[in-house]
Amino acid sequence: MIKKGIILSGGHGTRMSPLTKAVNKQLLPIYDKPLIYYSLSILMMAKIKEILIIVNKGQIDLYKKLLLNGNNLGIKIEYKEQKYPKGLPDAFILGKKFIGKKNVALILGDNFFYGKSLVSKLLKSSKLKKGAEVFLHKVNNPKLFGVAKLNSKKEIIGIKEKPKKKYSNLAITGLYFFDNQVVKLSKSLKPSKRKELEITDLLRKYQLKNQLFSNDIGKKGFWLDAGSMEDYYKTIKFVGSIQKKKKKYIGCLEEIALKNKWISKKHIISSIKFYGNCDYSNYLKKLIN
Ligand code: TTP
Repeated sequence: MIKKGIILSGGHGTRMSPLTKAVNKQLLPIYDKPLIYYSLSILMMAKIKEILIIVNKGQIDLYKKLLLNGNNLGIKIEYKEQKYPKGLPDAFILGKKFIGKKNVALILGDNFFYGKSLVSKLLKSSKLKKGAEVFLHKVNNPKLFGVAKLNSKKEIIGIKEKPKKKYSNLAITGLYFFDNQVVKLSKSLKPSKRKELEITDLLRKYQLKNQLFSNDIGKKGFWLDAGSMEDYYKTIKFVGSIQKKKKKYIGCLEEIALKNKWISKKHIISSIKFYGNCDYSNYLKKLIN
């Protein structure tokens, strides 16, 4: 089982400027929680307990204020600064020491996932031993994404970044599982025209070895890139309406930790103290009563 996960939580945030001029995108609110809660919750649902959060220069303290060292969640959080956004595969160069000889998951801090059978799908991917596995999702506007083409056996036979012509409508989402080759392969990448290391170049290296596999979040699953203005508000609306309808929170980290049996009542009480008097604390109180 993959035990380590990285959250990429830096970035330029250009598309959401001026909102992101003084505040990091992943700390902006999605309904009642900071955006990063949702990506962290996905790693926790995949039973990943060792987490590295990569943030922009000078922002470690901001994140520590919110997530501390993960103790209250029964996980271990480390932080690492990225001096400037060099591209997604830079996560594995910066995370070399954290990764060590293990396999690793990567999630983009601005991605939002929700689906009925998502947990079992996550657990399937976290069993990965060799190669890389990406989560795909059908989209109406493939021109905006990196996409993957599958054969009838659901094997990935090609990937293209923002295809101009019709190629595939399966977008490669911001959730990936890699074997330990990822560190070496990331180091071998050359920056693209936009001067970034590209995740599609990294995935292509796996594909050329026939080691790129796919999973999906399910037909009824939701995936949103909350880093664009439109999807940011869609995500807020979605979380608000599901929470009201189901009377159950999405992305409640303490609830997932409790369910995973990583924490006990005393940790929840400590979290309630930490958050203070708010709706989130009231929800936590209900979990232990
Ligand atoms: P993107 O959405 O590709 O880029 P961005 O956040 O810089 O935003 P914009 O395009 O509006 O300028 O990044 C995807 C996620 O990865 C996002 O959560 C930020 C994060 N990221 C890093 O942490 N470091 C990086 O070097 C890059 C490129 C992204």
